[in-house]
Amino acid sequence: MKTITVALVPGDGAAPEMMDWACKIASAAARKDDVELVFEKTPMGWSAYEEFGDTLPKASFDRAVELGTVFFGGVGDPKFDNTIGLQHPEMKPEARCLLALRQRMKLLFNFRPMIYYPELRHLAQVRPETIPDEGIQQHFIRFLLEDSYFGNADFGDTIKHTVLESILGVKSKNNVTGEEAIVTDIAYYRRETIEKYIRAAFNYAKRLGLPLISIDKANVMARYEFWRRIVTRIGKEEFPDVPLSHQYVDSANALLFTPAKLHGVIACGNEHGDILSDAAAAALGSMGMMCSSAINPDTGAAMFESGAGTAPTLAGTDKANPIGRILTAALMLRHLGAVKGAAAIEEAVKTALKQGHRTGDMYVGGDPHQTLVYTKGFDPLHTSQMGQLILSLL
Ligand code: IPM
Ligand code: MN
Repeated sequence: MKTITVALVPGDGAAPEMMDWACKIASAAARKDDVELVFEKTPMGWSAYEEFGDTLPKASFDRAVELGTVFFGGVGDPKFDNTIGLQHPEMKPEARCLLALRQRMKLLFNFRPMIYYPELRHLAQVRPETIPDEGIQQHFIRFLLEDSYFGNADFGDTIKHTVLESILGVKSKNNVTGEEAIVTDIAYYRRETIEKYIRAAFNYAKRLGLPLISIDKANVMARYEFWRRIVTRIGKEEFPDVPLSHQYVDSANALLFTPAKLHGVIACGNEHGDILSDAAAAALGSMGMMCSSAINPDTGAAMFESGAGTAPTLAGTDKANPIGRILTAALMLRHLGAVKGAAAIEEAVKTALKQGHRTGDMYVGGDPHQTLVYTKGFDPLHTSQMGQLILSLL
């Protein structure tokens, strides 16, 4: 038995209730591969603020980075944003925790596979006839560093007191007052990082036997002209067997309404990927089910975080849908080499849905004729019931 210690961020809102089950399921599944998972709590978010006076306590941050594998429940709660957050905007945990972890752990890419479940097609925001019977594969691999998210911080020291700061008003987010004449965010890409990322994206597409769709805005922006040239060169020289196409981000956005036209591995910049991946999840109906992982390919450091939000209005009710976290646990197991456990979790989720089990969110806006138990008197499962069920199906 191999023991692996994982940093656990239980998170805010309803995240801890969901993470509880995701951890139980991950531990049970990992044993199939002779892996014993130990979850060590490294609190972050508003729940940590209550205890430590910081949404990113230093001890938690350092330990999470040291352990190198983070299972992240999700942070953020408007209730706190509108109270403590007003006095201390720098404490808002979404950017504070996530961006710091991504940067310190050098998490170069972010995998967001959009898994389409036919049983949940009533939740998809696109017209049913746009999804072929055989389903759809959209695997987002988002570039997770640099770009407009990190430019100000990365170049902050370099540009201080220079003409750039005084003319262009480069500010950090928390210093913006609204009274400035002009404000900018620095967005940048480095060739070395882009090349490494693009090779990984091609390899991923190759492994899955899917085409690579590269998203950019090369018709307008320098960094995307740069991006497209690098993608084209690496594709031609190193991956001639992987079909490659380019899409401008605006047209890719429109194609999300006809998902079959974006079938493949989708490579996109940090900001583009942030925006497109939420829309893709909603288009295919899997927003509450989105799973996500962020990886440093050099060190193997990784963070696993469902994209599904913290459902603050459901905190303490045992009603949130834990499946996004549970599927994220599967990504974590696969990364840690527990491949049987990962597959078992994914199968168990499919079976639970096929058998007609649903949480409350899968009920919203639905067509009663399209799912098994979606009828009068339908009583959605609680977080713990769905968790228990998936655990028993492993
Ligand atoms: C995400 C989130 C984060 C991002 C925020 C909270 C920093 O929206 O992971 O998609 O924009 O990357
Ligand atoms: Mn996002």
